[in-house]
Amino acid sequence: MATTDAQILHAHELALLGMDISDARGLPARLYTDPDIYEAEKETIFRRQWMPVFHQSSIPNPGDYRVVQVYGESFLFVRGDDRKLRGFHNICLHRGAKVADGSGTCSRFRCPYHTWTYDLKGNLIGAPEMAHVVREGGALREVSVDTYLGYVFFNDYGNAPPLSEKLAGLSEALAPWASVGDQLVELFEIHFPGEWNWKLAMENGLEGYHVLGSHYESAQHISPGELTYSEITEYSDWTGFNMPFAEGAPRAFGTDGAVPMDDLPEWAERESRFFGIWPSFPFMIAPEFVGAAIIIPGATAGEVDVVWVTAVRPESKDLPGFAEYQAEQIEFAKTIQPEDNYPCETMWENLHSPSFVPGPYAKQEVGTYQFDQWYLDQMAS
Ligand code: FES
Ligand SMILES: [Fe+2]
Repeated sequence: MATTDAQILHAHELALLGMDISDARGLPARLYTDPDIYEAEKETIFRRQWMPVFHQSSIPNPGDYRVVQVYGESFLFVRGDDRKLRGFHNICLHRGAKVADGSGTCSRFRCPYHTWTYDLKGNLIGAPEMAHVVREGGALREVSVDTYLGYVFFNDYGNAPPLSEKLAGLSEALAPWASVGDQLVELFEIHFPGEWNWKLAMENGLEGYHVLGSHYESAQHISPGELTYSEITEYSDWTGFNMPFAEGAPRAFGTDGAVPMDDLPEWAERESRFFGIWPSFPFMIAPEFVGAAIIIPGATAGEVDVVWVTAVRPESKDLPGFAEYQAEQIEFAKTIQPEDNYPCETMWENLHSPSFVPGPYAKQEVGTYQFDQWYLDQMAS
């Protein structure tokens, strides 16, 4: 079959799509390193999907805002006077400067260049010497905003189905967590910026096989990598895997510093569960928390920010053990993510070598395989 100009993937890449896990190989290097592929991903994936950015509890009050750089574009998120979260392209209608930077609280945004002003709904409300422009009306370009488990996601093109619809099956699997999801508050947010492709971080977050190496010292005695298994065969929008605890293993964290969810399933005593929402939201659940490693793709194929945001029930803050628990969790994040950074850094380097050849998937890498299949499907369509 002839290749059309519109086709992004090469024939040998397309051939991986639909291949069984036992026959398939990882993605070819070009799909991680080629700047043209990255531009295609922005259009084919990032602008069409729900992209996670932070936890809603980090901007709890009217006027609270945050600016986040995602795939090289600047987005402004703000909680309105009506408490609704909104997101905009952070591009002034005048000459295109950034209207806001960083984070804070305000009643309106004033572009620092020529001081055009915008209300919290993004409407242009002031333009010195140019009142006619305000009369004509205008607003910052809005993006759709939705939340899941209290985490904020945005959809640039605004036509992705609501997360509650896309993730209905996941919410069933996560009922005790999903039922209180929007009340959760963040315990911490820690950024781990890196120089590698975003997919390496997602693939890493979707399998427990690497506990055998990367987390041998920190986690193998608690959740042995080889015990990882998955029961998920349908993976249209998300997937997941389970990590049983080793016999007699100490639990990684105590629960006296955070209030557990209600009506926990029996399996929560036996294993921890990990999930991944396409394209960039791997997370785990434990009796008392949801812990995400939000993947924020950078301006180029070789830039990413992995943002650990763990959220707990708000009443946890009243427990006497809370501060210690919080400190332990922060320490855990600062131990684990650097262990995940090392392979990402070295794979990124090696993906540029002509000697790199993608290898097979272990049965514990089902999530990674499913993500790669989803990715190929998106890029093929
Ligand atoms: S670019 Fe914003 S006011 Fe001129
Ligand atoms: Fe890891």
